[in-house]
Amino acid sequence: MKIAIAKEIDAAEPRVAATPDTVKKFKALGIDVAIEPGAGIKSGLLDADYEAAGAVVSTEAVKDADIVIKVKRPEVSEAAKYKKGALVIAIMDPYGNEAALKALADAGVAAFAMELMPRITRAQVMDVLSSQANLAGYRAVIESAEAFGRAFPMMMTAAGTVPAAKVFVMGVGVAGLQAIATARRLGAVVTATDVRPATKEQVESLGAKFLAVEDEEFKNAQTAGGYAKEMSKEYQAKQAALTAEHIKKQDIVITTALIPGRPAPKLVTAEMVKSMKPGSVLVDLAVERGGNVEGAKANEVADVDGVKIVGYTNLAGKVPASASSLYARNLYSFIETLYDKAAKSLAVKWDDDLVKATALTKDGAVIHPNFQPKA
Ligand code: NAI
Repeated sequence: MKIAIAKEIDAAEPRVAATPDTVKKFKALGIDVAIEPGAGIKSGLLDADYEAAGAVVSTEAVKDADIVIKVKRPEVSEAAKYKKGALVIAIMDPYGNEAALKALADAGVAAFAMELMPRITRAQVMDVLSSQANLAGYRAVIESAEAFGRAFPMMMTAAGTVPAAKVFVMGVGVAGLQAIATARRLGAVVTATDVRPATKEQVESLGAKFLAVEDEEFKNAQTAGGYAKEMSKEYQAKQAALTAEHIKKQDIVITTALIPGRPAPKLVTAEMVKSMKPGSVLVDLAVERGGNVEGAKANEVADVDGVKIVGYTNLAGKVPASASSLYARNLYSFIETLYDKAAKSLAVKWDDDLVKATALTKDGAVIHPNFQPKA
């Protein structure tokens, strides 16, 4: 059996799907590994490091590979080079991209979306949403500190006192929790909000203050899978009123609110942005899915009367070495479940929950019920 590590063709994607560490682990299982030249360079990983770990560095790495691993969904031009029937495992960004998935099916590959991994205990180690969101939350605070013209911690000096920055985190999932922790470590005064009641205790345990409309709807706003539901218009209006008053007084707002498969909820209106003091900063982590902040632009820093809205996509990619290392381990753990160690061969159990949840295409068709091609 052979695994190929493909180089990302998107110049804005610095991550890589394997590290020398995971290459060693694949080799220990008896799997051959090939890698395209330069695949790891933007994560600080040299071809020689992969070679030393046992991989073959080759421009033809993907040819004949039984599994191709990537960070982003391959373009048709890439998939055309893969062996028919090869498994292709990546962050596939399937929502709203049914046509691209159909193209992968037509290319004859079996595509798996790592971000659809179920959130069950067995799959925690494969949870790419968590591994990457955690780093994105960290990086969002770093970006905000960079764009902010003041210090985060309170400083009492002979020349006077610098007040602590006020940071408000909206959406307390994995990214939000890490943003709270990071902002606290930098010395900010942190508040946070979410629609899931379970987050209140988590926010408080990190030393931040929780702020939300805690009505009946709020008490039931969590799905069995632990995700947020889309809130009613009435709730959103109450939430907006509470938020509007609070945001005026904040220096930094970091938004991370997402609902799987839906556009990001709009939480910060243009009016709220205008109500902030010049020099304030918003970082919108949901910008790829439409954004939580009105006026946020993908991969830009928008300036609204002196208030900056940072809209970088792929914030985890701004910590590429850490992001690649965690993503590579997520992938390794999943691939282990697709492999028969005794027979040393690929053994996909198509009825396994992890496979059923993540498999998008097989034998020329889109097999995932949620992403059937639109008529
Ligand atoms: P996410 O990325 O889907 O959303 C981020 C946050 O935005 C969520 O906390 C969500 O409740 C919040 N949100 C949505 N709409 C909002 C609104 N209108 N206003 C304010 N906030 C809003 O969430 P993520 O980071 O994937 O985490 C979701 C849950 O899954 C969390 O409870 C997390 O602890 C849990 N989880 C469970 C794992 C497991 O059991 N293996 C692994 C990782 C996370």
